[in-house]
Amino acid sequence: MAEEKKDIQVLLSEKRVFEPNPELAANSNVMAWMKKHGLNTLDELLEKCQDIEWFWKEMADELLDFYKPYDKVLEWDAPWAKWFTGGEYNIVHDALDRHMKTDKKNDVCFVFEGETGETKEWTYAEMYSEVNRIANALKSLGVKKGDRVGIYMPMLVELPIAMLACAKIGAIHSVVFSGFSPTAFAERMNDCEAKVAITCDHFWRRGKKVALKDQTDAAMDMAKTVEHVIVYKRDGDPVSWTEGRDHWWHEIAAEQSDECETERMDANDLLYILYTSGTTGRPKGIQHAHAGYALGTATTLKWVFDLQEKDVWWCAADIGWVTGHSYIVYAPMILGAKSVIYEGAPAYPEADRWWEMVERHGVTVLYTSPTAVRAHMRLGEEHPQKHAMKSLRILGSVGEPINPEAWMWYHTYVGKDNCPIMDTWWQTETGHFMITPLPITPLKPGSGTRPFPGISAKVYDEEGNPITNAGGNLVIEKPWPGMLRGLYKDAERYKNVYWSRYDKTYLAGDVTRMDEDGYFWIQGRADDVLNVAGHRIGNSEVESALVSHPKVAEAAVIGKPHELKGESLSAFVVLRKGVEPSEELRAELREHVGVEIGKIARPDEIGFVNDVPKTRSGKIMRRVIRAKAIGEEVGDTSTLANPEAVEEIGKAK
Ligand code: WT7
Repeated sequence: MAEEKKDIQVLLSEKRVFEPNPELAANSNVMAWMKKHGLNTLDELLEKCQDIEWFWKEMADELLDFYKPYDKVLEWDAPWAKWFTGGEYNIVHDALDRHMKTDKKNDVCFVFEGETGETKEWTYAEMYSEVNRIANALKSLGVKKGDRVGIYMPMLVELPIAMLACAKIGAIHSVVFSGFSPTAFAERMNDCEAKVAITCDHFWRRGKKVALKDQTDAAMDMAKTVEHVIVYKRDGDPVSWTEGRDHWWHEIAAEQSDECETERMDANDLLYILYTSGTTGRPKGIQHAHAGYALGTATTLKWVFDLQEKDVWWCAADIGWVTGHSYIVYAPMILGAKSVIYEGAPAYPEADRWWEMVERHGVTVLYTSPTAVRAHMRLGEEHPQKHAMKSLRILGSVGEPINPEAWMWYHTYVGKDNCPIMDTWWQTETGHFMITPLPITPLKPGSGTRPFPGISAKVYDEEGNPITNAGGNLVIEKPWPGMLRGLYKDAERYKNVYWSRYDKTYLAGDVTRMDEDGYFWIQGRADDVLNVAGHRIGNSEVESALVSHPKVAEAAVIGKPHELKGESLSAFVVLRKGVEPSEELRAELREHVGVEIGKIARPDEIGFVNDVPKTRSGKIMRRVIRAKAIGEEVGDTSTLANPEAVEEIGKAK
């Protein structure tokens, strides 16, 4: 085996650049702020905001309203950061209460659309009243400040209402994605020792009714600490009932006052716990606090997606993930935005459901994931082509590296060559965008571009030296306001996972390259790095090369142990609609990768599949694919969105 090279190889070189739209840039929120501070360029902005205490204080003065002013912007005792210490604050005050004193109260906060097509608008005032009733209901069930409440709900407006009701009284919510199993829900409830759970009877997904109350009942048999369950009636079909434990949402809400005083919290008190399933081990309970998180999410949304009075914002993620917590619930409400919440599946019942919705609701900013873009790409451009979608002005992507060709497809057919794509890199742990374009940033397809102002992202080699133009570990050198406040009841694991590799520096776990313009290119998770003949290669580069072939919609690449080369590459490829697999195509794809990035990255094997295993948040599960491909035990597949795809890997042709 050849000598191992430490750096991760850089193979893909994407040369296309899209300059900012001058009109959009000139009228953007970030430009207005820059003018106020005498800053003219992105470089000047990034330079100025390196003084993080100055920058975040400026933004806090603009965006947050404290009950009691803070003494200090930041106390940093690595790896523990406290923001706005001494301040008294509650995120619900900024997201709801203060809007009641202005005309904002009559503006639409959420437009809900059910999968079956019905719609309902909620004003800020209506949200306020319902949040208060549910907050009072929680109190009546004995929930107090600091108690944990589990929420197991689909994409209904009642989900943000439940979250805000908890936050209002100082309880800590822990939302569990409604697609997770009862066991997964129970495990999380046991871990955080939740006192109350909130759920619904049924909901719609891809034309089928999901019996969530039954799943909740199954979970409650395992969740020892939960004393009461509040059940929202989405559908009305009969459900089984445990007297004394179960309470209908509408009944318990009707008994309550629609006023409820908001609990004054310490700025660093916990707002929520959200579990992330890593690739191994038990889920990590990521903790976020009130004030810093509010500031980080609101600032980034205001600047990156440039939300302004007339915008209609659609973050098409599920609220069960951090993307929904930060950018469907908290940040948009702090900014007083109008948001779309859609209950159902993307291409259901018709392939153009989303595009039709964009037109009907006049959506101006759409934020989704590479997986969703690739799924639409696979179905064909004729579907977005049926809709002019003139209202759209900005698009966004999050969750995985977006393959340059998927980026181009999104730009061409959804954005009609007219909308910048904000490829936002961040994590459940970071709370908000960390590396992302602004409306003034020239874009390169496939790159998240540069760090957000005040975010000190770098790429380090194994020894901890900052490097450019070579692959290394993505790190953050200074704290940021939405930084996780550790892991629930597990300070040791927090230190080990994120802070033990480099001194006082956060390790993100992604391998990345920074180019000569300071642009970041995420090459994949460190765990998924490939090793061919001593060359370490990021999986996303090979996958993007495959996806750049016009017949390919999606690809997953893994390494199999190989006597001579260390690892040999196996690719699993999903073809676009109407394309048939063949030996010729297999050879063509190998050659294509050779031409795009070099012979070393040509996969030894290419298997054609209908789907690749993914998490429920849309991330390709390469660990599972690899285990299956090399005949190892696959392990727990309960967190997969499509467990049947695992069998396909075994049978790939
Ligand atoms: C991991 C975090 C942040 C909300 C959703 C995911 C990957 C995320 C990007 C992007 C390349 C990305 C990273 C990261 N990731 N966004 N724009 N480009 N990779 O949250 O489940 O905590 O996952 O998702 O690998 O570490 P998460």
